[in-house]
Amino acid sequence: MKQRRILITAALPYANGPIHLGHMVEYIQTDIWARFQRARGHEAYFIWADDTHGTPIMLHARKRGISPDQLIAEMAEEHQRDFRDFGLSYDHFGSTNSPSNRELVHGIWARLQAQGHIESHTIEQCYDAERKMFLPDRFIRGTCPKCGAEDQYGDSCEVCGATYEPTDLINPVSTLSGSAPELRQSEHFFVRLADFTDMLQDWMRSPALQDEVRNKLQEWFGDGLRSWDVSRDAPYFGFEIPGQKDKFFYVWLDAPVGYMASFADFCASHPQLDFAEWWGPDSDTELYHFVGKDIIYFHALFWPAVLHGSGYRIPTAVFAHGFLTVNGAKMSKSRGTFIMARTYLDHLHPDYLRYYFAARLGSGLGDIDLQLDDFRQRVNADLVGKLINIASRCAGFIHKLNAGQLGPVLPDADLYQTFLEQQNAIATDYEQRNYQAAVRRIMALADQANQYLAEQAPWKLAKQPDQQAQAIAICTQGLNLFRLLITWLAPVLPDTATRALQFLQLDDTPQALLWSRLHEPLLEHAINPYQALLQRIDEQQIAAIIEDSKATLEASSNAAGTSTTAAAAEQKKTAQKKPENAPDSMQHQPTDTISIDQFLAVELRVARIVSAEQVPGADKLLRLQLDLGNAQRQVFAGIKSAYTPEQLQNRLTVVVANLAPRKMRFGISEGMILAAGEADDGGPFLLSPDSGAQPGQRIR
Ligand code: 2FM
Ligand code: ZN
Repeated sequence: MKQRRILITAALPYANGPIHLGHMVEYIQTDIWARFQRARGHEAYFIWADDTHGTPIMLHARKRGISPDQLIAEMAEEHQRDFRDFGLSYDHFGSTNSPSNRELVHGIWARLQAQGHIESHTIEQCYDAERKMFLPDRFIRGTCPKCGAEDQYGDSCEVCGATYEPTDLINPVSTLSGSAPELRQSEHFFVRLADFTDMLQDWMRSPALQDEVRNKLQEWFGDGLRSWDVSRDAPYFGFEIPGQKDKFFYVWLDAPVGYMASFADFCASHPQLDFAEWWGPDSDTELYHFVGKDIIYFHALFWPAVLHGSGYRIPTAVFAHGFLTVNGAKMSKSRGTFIMARTYLDHLHPDYLRYYFAARLGSGLGDIDLQLDDFRQRVNADLVGKLINIASRCAGFIHKLNAGQLGPVLPDADLYQTFLEQQNAIATDYEQRNYQAAVRRIMALADQANQYLAEQAPWKLAKQPDQQAQAIAICTQGLNLFRLLITWLAPVLPDTATRALQFLQLDDTPQALLWSRLHEPLLEHAINPYQALLQRIDEQQIAAIIEDSKATLEASSNAAGTSTTAAAAEQKKTAQKKPENAPDSMQHQPTDTISIDQFLAVELRVARIVSAEQVPGADKLLRLQLDLGNAQRQVFAGIKSAYTPEQLQNRLTVVVANLAPRKMRFGISEGMILAAGEADDGGPFLLSPDSGAQPGQRIR
């Protein structure tokens, strides 16, 4: 088989918030593919980075009173800890805010300009005179010009689905200052996409795109290719445009260049790699981008145009996937199904989720559902009940009857061969990202192996001295079949496979995972005593994940700021100005309704702030002592950015009085006070009853 040279990327996560299971679908999908390619003996690199620029990251850092550089350093560490713990085998993790990225962006810009692919116009945009900045569409809200729904974003209406310009909104308001935006002119720079019409038409006809994506792009093409605005005015966190004053490159220009920059950094530490061989216009290497369907527009239109226009190769293919739902619905914070990667890892082994996602992933754009009950049952039945069972049933006899040594022959030589004959079909499934088919095929073989053991019943043979050689032979067969299955599943279950190889006393180098090695069965080979490779998932563990996910939500909302996830969602909304018909982003969370009884279960009472004080080490929190009429309470509130302790002294406010006390890092919080808004929009604003209200009075 010819060795291929393959460069693989997953979308670069925003350095603006934590990773959740919605992200993990793509990262696991990408990682399985990279591991599979390596197991086939190809030279495959998974290159990755954080996506660090843009307005939301700038504002987020400001809100926290730290520099963007501090924020992105923090996030890079947090992201990579999650990724490592999920077993993601990226070869390099870079940053779009790197010298190499700046250099590449400058080079690309110079070439695009030299080729006449850049134009500039003066455009009119909403400007927040109080905050002294132009407003991205998502930072403007107002009444929908189509249906009249109030409080809609500046680019699209969540009620009627209309898309429009922020200037079309009725009564627009800046979400940053609350002021009405004014229109101001500014010069912007555009990539002339129409210059690339022919090249993009060819690209669209090539196998580089999935059929569903091709069809979608054809629709966009139908409208004609408008020039793409790639500049932003200061203040902005990003790379300045050379030769311009106060103009920056839009984050979506430098983000994909981050793929190249991260690879360039990787090359710098791997001298055998030549960057130009991989990215040059005549490169014979392969380049694949895994992305969510919401950002396909950037990857399938803008990115190939930018690459081609600046003299680089274009991707071999872009692979788009669908979104994650949990229990059949969009992830919901109130239901505890908005699950952070870390929350999952606190309770369960990563290979379980990797397996479940693999068992659900096909090569199309369909959404995948994490049915938590099904997840538990399927992992228990397939991995513990079928796969691991083969090894645990056989290992004991090899140790008891043959001093831990596999037998000299396979008793039913055909069986091993029959299994091996499936290898190419399994490889094709993986290659096509049809992991569910690969898993189905492998699990059907696991059934067959278990059936073989049940029929041969080595446990019966082992009891009769004259049959023990046969028992050893059967178990030798069983363990060899197990080795095939676990090697084929290793891209999905990397940690379990590594431990299985240790058990089989195969070396722990990547070579041990090569599929080409499977033609030789293990005979007269010593193995280690069997130790449980995976435990069953308990219902309690799933319940704990849900509980913790609810608690994560509470902790972030109690801090009276946006949760970082919400901030990440905001970043995504901001970054992408989608054309009409572009698929919906998963980030739109439904509003859950509650019954009147549920509302009345919340005990809201008037409280007087007796004292307020700073909490050493806390970014957002103040410690409040509240008087509720007949009781005093200590509450930690995330309002430090808006109030000094002195301003709060003696003020009346509203407290959720029947919230279970919660242990926080700084002490116990015995309730929650209510505030509106966030630092971004001038808040938080503490709620207060009119004067005359008495501490302890119930609010309805
Ligand atoms: O949508 C997102 O989360 C972006 N941060 C993805 C960027 S991918 C690439 F272009 F960098
Ligand atoms: Zn509307």
